[in-house]
Amino acid sequence: MSVAQIEPQIETMVFEKNGLTVTLPEDGPVYFNAWWLRDNCPTSFDSETRERTFDVFHHATTPFPADAVIQDGALMIRWAEEDHVSRYPLEFLRTYAQGSRRADPADLPRTPWFADHYPDITRVSHPVLLEDGGERRRWMEALLIEGIAIVTDMPDTDEALTSTAGLLGTIRPSFFGDYFDVRTHIKPTNLAYTSKALELHTDVPAEELAPGIQYLHCRRNSVEGGRNLFLDGTAVANDLRMVDPEAFRLLSEIEVPFYKEHDDIDMRARHTVIELDHNDEVSGVTISQHMADIFDLPQRLMDSYYPAFVKFGRMLQEGKYLMRFTLAAGECISFDNHRIVHGRAAYSATSGERYLRGTYTDRGELRGLYRAMVSEGRFK
Ligand SMILES: [Fe+2]
Repeated sequence: MSVAQIEPQIETMVFEKNGLTVTLPEDGPVYFNAWWLRDNCPTSFDSETRERTFDVFHHATTPFPADAVIQDGALMIRWAEEDHVSRYPLEFLRTYAQGSRRADPADLPRTPWFADHYPDITRVSHPVLLEDGGERRRWMEALLIEGIAIVTDMPDTDEALTSTAGLLGTIRPSFFGDYFDVRTHIKPTNLAYTSKALELHTDVPAEELAPGIQYLHCRRNSVEGGRNLFLDGTAVANDLRMVDPEAFRLLSEIEVPFYKEHDDIDMRARHTVIELDHNDEVSGVTISQHMADIFDLPQRLMDSYYPAFVKFGRMLQEGKYLMRFTLAAGECISFDNHRIVHGRAAYSATSGERYLRGTYTDRGELRGLYRAMVSEGRFK
């Protein structure tokens, strides 16, 4: 039966100037814009690629429903001035009825953690991860919820890091290359490549899109000193928000410059120190004294910005937040580089060998893989 043959259900449809108010069985009257409806007809999407193939820019007319009806759990619309009928499942319409953001399975609530978190860090075994989707899920959820997890039983090979990071995305180079080796270098380009203490930081904010997920595979660690320092930047920022809302506002609204100038490169980017998500919740921090460029804000603004910046920097170093431990050979620590702040105590370069190999993948790719695996039940 065509739509034209169906008796119009006047009480469930109100045709308006730019759209249609439909009375959905469970939601009551809900308005939908006609352009939105026409653009999002299920036939607008390629069934294989799932990409939109409908070209709204070249649509000849301003869409307007000639008639519309609810039938068999779907809204049917016959469009005026074109030979086209659209069928929208009511579940689909319900998703967009209130103009609120589509539910995101990767939007897991972050759990802030503190100095005593070390025994509770999620640990997953490298060979198990390669075989077991359930373990991969546990790992991904730890990274989304706590921002940190340790992969154990890593083989002492370059390939081990590649295969580990490859489970959560494509290796994502920084200007240091696809991989970086943290050990004492003869001509260091970075403090990390010395045996000196490494101040608390997030990696490479000099890049416009600083690396998302970081992996540090500990290959050797027999030196004296060199304890690893990790803290949850969101826990500190949440506390700052409570104790000093104005400092929090400055750090979450004003972008400051970061840079990395060496040999043939002059990288520059600006970030806020505190990052907020779409719910106005703290989703991350960016901090790096060695890559902080000279702040080029109005000098009067420095009067309030600097005290806020220093206050936050001092809070980061408080014992309440700082988790100290020694990464062992065969462990790979994985963490959200936009949330977890890390550093290292100085070590004695002559006391033994210390070698970590690192790489990055993207935050967005982690979330993308997680959504697909959850929605398609690939963990079962
Ligand atoms: Fe680092």
